[in-house]
Amino acid sequence: MAGTVVVVGSINADLGVEVDRFPQPGETLNGRGGVLAPGGKGANQALAARLQGAQVSMIGAVGDDAAADAALRFLREAGVHLERLHVESGATGIALVMVDAAGENQIIVIPGANASLSPDRVEQWLDQTGDEVVVMQGEIPVETIDHVAARTKGRLVLNLAPVVGVRRETILRADPLVVNEHEARLALRLLDPGHPAIDEEQELVSELMGQGCPSVVMTLGSRGALVGDSSGILEVASIRVEAVDSTGAGDAFVGTLAADLALGKNLQAACRHAAAAAASTVEHRGAQSSYWAMVDSPDQPERQ
Ligand code: RIB
Repeated sequence: MAGTVVVVGSINADLGVEVDRFPQPGETLNGRGGVLAPGGKGANQALAARLQGAQVSMIGAVGDDAAADAALRFLREAGVHLERLHVESGATGIALVMVDAAGENQIIVIPGANASLSPDRVEQWLDQTGDEVVVMQGEIPVETIDHVAARTKGRLVLNLAPVVGVRRETILRADPLVVNEHEARLALRLLDPGHPAIDEEQELVSELMGQGCPSVVMTLGSRGALVGDSSGILEVASIRVEAVDSTGAGDAFVGTLAADLALGKNLQAACRHAAAAAASTVEHRGAQSSYWAMVDSPDQPERQ
């Protein structure tokens, strides 16, 4: 259905810890925070797409523990369809998210129930999908990503974050492939293991397209993104903001992009909007907790 996004991806509860600086190996530091908040790249992107006006359905897995409620809280509040969730006996995915005084983060993910999202499990739900925009990331089993990419009839937005060893056809099916610069280099190596290393950003996008990617979006953090498609490669600028916490900004970008594509915008216009939306989230703490700022008034308090 037009205007609809299906996210097949991870759902985590994020344990956010604020530190003045990251610890050295073997060092113990005091931090602040320690509250469980909704996260996971899949769930983050689903919430962002929903807040940007798309109908969103989430295919994912949570555990049968208390963390599942924390993980799903904002998806429920925003009206993301959750009929296609698997509840696995055991723990919900957990992410330890450390954020330093400069707003940079270090994240450790324990997949938990996300690892149970097998191809067989998602197959039962794929028959119900049609021409929706389908969004995936790299935090679910790699064989599931390959399976869904092969079975998807609609437009596939593949955010290969983190980069996992998907099949070549999966990457080439993505329209667009969304990666940061580091991920772009690894994705190019997946497509062509012998490819010489490339430093230059535009050239990376161009080489990925030369391998057969229909479109590539390379995110550039606070600078915006490079957008490559059949019309060429365009740099899309972001807006200047005071960075407090960049956690989940990339997911806000992907979710906004997916919603806009589903709602009929072209790729470049969608990326322009996505870059501005992602930038607005780094002014607030947390992943999903910061997303309401994309649509709320700037004076609205953050959701905790
Ligand atoms: O991209 C940010 C996300 O990465 C966090 O919410 C965390 O759960 C990890 O998946």
